Amino acid sequence: MTHTNEKIYYIETYGCQMNVYDSELVSKMMEECGYKKGDDYRKADAIFLNTCSIREKAEETVHNRLENFQYLKKKNPSLLIGVLGCMAQNLKDDILDSKPYVDIILGPDSYRSIPKLLKDRTNKMNHLVDTKLSKYEIYDELFPSRNEGVNSWVSIMRGCDKFCTFCIVPFTRGRERSRPIDSIVNEIKHGVEEGFVEFTLLGQNVNSYNTPDGKFPELLDRVASIEGVKRLRFSSPHPQDVDDHMLEVMSSYDNICNHVHLPLQSGNDRILKRMNRSYTSNEFLILADKIKQYMPGCSITTDVIVGFPGETEEEFEDTLNVAKKVGFNFAFMFKYSSRPGTKASGYTDQIPEEIKQKRLERLIDVQLDNTLKQNKALVGKTIKVLVEKESKKSKEQWAGRTEGNMWVVFDKGSESVGDLIDVKIEDARGVTLFGINVNREYKYEVA
Ligand code: SAH
Ligand code: SF4
Ligand code: F3S
Repeated sequence: MTHTNEKIYYIETYGCQMNVYDSELVSKMMEECGYKKGDDYRKADAIFLNTCSIREKAEETVHNRLENFQYLKKKNPSLLIGVLGCMAQNLKDDILDSKPYVDIILGPDSYRSIPKLLKDRTNKMNHLVDTKLSKYEIYDELFPSRNEGVNSWVSIMRGCDKFCTFCIVPFTRGRERSRPIDSIVNEIKHGVEEGFVEFTLLGQNVNSYNTPDGKFPELLDRVASIEGVKRLRFSSPHPQDVDDHMLEVMSSYDNICNHVHLPLQSGNDRILKRMNRSYTSNEFLILADKIKQYMPGCSITTDVIVGFPGETEEEFEDTLNVAKKVGFNFAFMFKYSSRPGTKASGYTDQIPEEIKQKRLERLIDVQLDNTLKQNKALVGKTIKVLVEKESKKSKEQWAGRTEGNMWVVFDKGSESVGDLIDVKIEDARGVTLFGINVNREYKYEVA
């Protein structure tokens, strides 16, 4: 019979990739404190929720989830329940009032206090709240504990200074700060040794990355030249900070994916101005063209918000038109959600839910059409695909992504996960591509 006194932690992550990365940092710290990761919260000694505040729904999900943990705490008073991340930052008072069984609340800059907190913890511990935002915390020299896979996230900067009027991030994540180039390069070399082949540089505005040793283009250049980096991605750049130097570096390396995630938000100039998005729709269109001049066939994906306060029917249609003109390969589309504390939540001309819903559906129609057109244009072409995992539908097939971040499904041959192979695209359905490995080696049975 196996018996172990090892303590178990369980962590659930909501929100963006930055949170995924942060959860990996927390995992690392927990493991260094002797905890083992578990995938059943009912058996855990410590439960963490790494939370997101970007839209109301994200917060509701976490509130509901926390309700579920209340009975566990009753059964086992020494269970530690921790709320981490953006909601911790944003809603600490609310959580303290309504959920007294939550033991610790830590904002995104406070995770280094976890080991001490575990050590000092007694059963009679009072609540511990640390949501101070730091101008400096970049969690340098802490290697995250990662799951297996081919892709690894690497945080290169934290915070955001742009203050778009709809957005909570500058309040939950604090001021912009960049990690030194050498430290990023070290983490990626370490990742290559661990077997990762694709790296995604993360930040709320990756291209406002700025250190004494260089800005974003210099960083791209350094990382792309690391041996073993088969693919390099980044998310998200801000249109305002895309410059020629960045595009030159992108086009000069084969391993930097020809893909730019370029959040549009709105295609109407009055709304863009009211959102505090520092570009006009025309400037955005010119930028999209320029990206394709540097990298023909480069895929451009985006984020769009519909129903921003005061958005008229015509202004919404401007967004549809820009979406059609650019022909985005893919888009994340959202109904505006009012975030208390942001400038736009104070605007008096909020749009009714039904109108937002209708606009969202119309935009989705336009975008599905865009995606399908872009994908159909690939039929007959042979493109590079990174083999990532077994297809959900069949054990006989792989799923991998194109440089443009689209999923391709193809029959298994002798290739393995992590290989970069040539796939001939044969069909495009929904948002998925289907193809065959052109160098596929068939396995013959020798009699
Ligand atoms: N820093 C990135 C975006 C991070 S948030 C950038 O500037 O591009 C991801 C997306 O969530 C945003 O691009 C926006 O489209 C959406 N979003 C942010 N706040 C929102 C809100 N209040 N309501 C609806 N969508 C929102
Ligand atoms: Fe939010 Fe704007 Fe910053 Fe993006 S750039 S995180 S949308 S404030
Ligand atoms: Fe959400 Fe915070 Fe990311 S609000 S989207 S988890 S930065």
